[in-house]
Amino acid sequence: MTIDSKLKAVIDRFVFPGALVECAEIKTGHINATYRLRFVGAEGAQREYVLQRINNYVFKKPDEVMQNVRLVTEHLSRALAARGVDPDNRVLRVVPTVDGGAMVDDGEGGFWRAYDFIRHAVTVDRVQSADQFRQIGAAFGDFQGMLSDFPIDRLYDTIPHFHDTRKRLSDFERSVKGDAAGRAASVPEEIEFIRSRGKAMCRIVEMLESGEIPLRVTHNDTKINNVMLDKATGEALCVIDLDTVMPGSALYDFGDAIRYGACTAAEDETDLSRVALDIDLFAAFAEGFISRTADRLTKAELENLPLGAMVMTYENALRFLADHLDGDIYFTDVDYPEHNLSRARCQMKLLTDMEAKRADMDGIVARLIERTK
Ligand SMILES: Nc1ncnc2c1ncn2[C@@H]1O[C@H](COP(=O)(O)OP(=O)(O)O)[C@@H](O)[C@H]1O
Ligand SMILES: [Mg+2]
Repeated sequence: MTIDSKLKAVIDRFVFPGALVECAEIKTGHINATYRLRFVGAEGAQREYVLQRINNYVFKKPDEVMQNVRLVTEHLSRALAARGVDPDNRVLRVVPTVDGGAMVDDGEGGFWRAYDFIRHAVTVDRVQSADQFRQIGAAFGDFQGMLSDFPIDRLYDTIPHFHDTRKRLSDFERSVKGDAAGRAASVPEEIEFIRSRGKAMCRIVEMLESGEIPLRVTHNDTKINNVMLDKATGEALCVIDLDTVMPGSALYDFGDAIRYGACTAAEDETDLSRVALDIDLFAAFAEGFISRTADRLTKAELENLPLGAMVMTYENALRFLADHLDGDIYFTDVDYPEHNLSRARCQMKLLTDMEAKRADMDGIVARLIERTK
């Protein structure tokens, strides 16, 4: 095995057992560099870990990210143990560094952390069946449920204003006014779409401010590929990718999972007739999620889950459109000049469909809540 000496120096600063026998890059992630490490201990026992570089372009304070991750994973472990479930392979476990920390600073601007490897598991990028999506809903529901008694003031707000719809809107207006790429005149209908829904879409922020709903530990990246599934049975094993864990609302986690997973088309589909909310997938996810949160979240939270899906979709529409106006400076992954506009239109179409299906969504959620009583 050949291994980069810098990587080796990082590995040596974690408390791993035995001798390193394998180090391979996992290429499925999009943001972090992720490696799979295998060690062999004295009696021949093998242990595997993942080593990841923290994205310090997005996270300016990686130590705060890791502090959040450590507290949240410890809480989840205790919650599982209290239910009589062995947390091994069910919760990420942060591997300590030799000096008792949670990450290694490589001295060249890189910050690294390691987790136990989740065994015989896979992730999927697109939902393959309603049953699978129900499992994923249950996994994110469990995550919310088990953290519902977490002391929220112990978490850092690692990306301030992440879902501050009001601030997103004022930033949007600045983009329209600034018109950096000279595109504002070509998208009047899209701008109007965002403006006309502004007030209604600030409702979650309002409810948090007024105390109608509480702040919760929020995962903030509830894409389906952040749940590891058992390779053989398809059962959800473990929620991963915890970097964006911070105070927020349970509605955001539910909502983003629906926005991403229950849409009938890709995020940049240009044939808008193909973009819709798959109500059966919505129902499946909601069933899994509510089955694990009905006794943990408040009535106001549960009833407003569909609003969460709409607000997250709106927020993405707004951000894609703002970035189109700014000249593609945040979502730089553009294949053609109108790419972020396509993404914005796709989210707008999805939101329009959710508006049409709002009563259906509300009805499904109400029935699911009723069922758990
Ligand atoms: N603890 C783990 N055990 C096994 N595989 C993991 C673990 N953490 C991450 N992975 C794998 O690495 C991939 C990327 O990790 P993730 O933390 O989701 O980063 P990204 O921000 O790149 O999505 C995951 O899709 C998964 O396949
Ligand atoms: Mg991920």
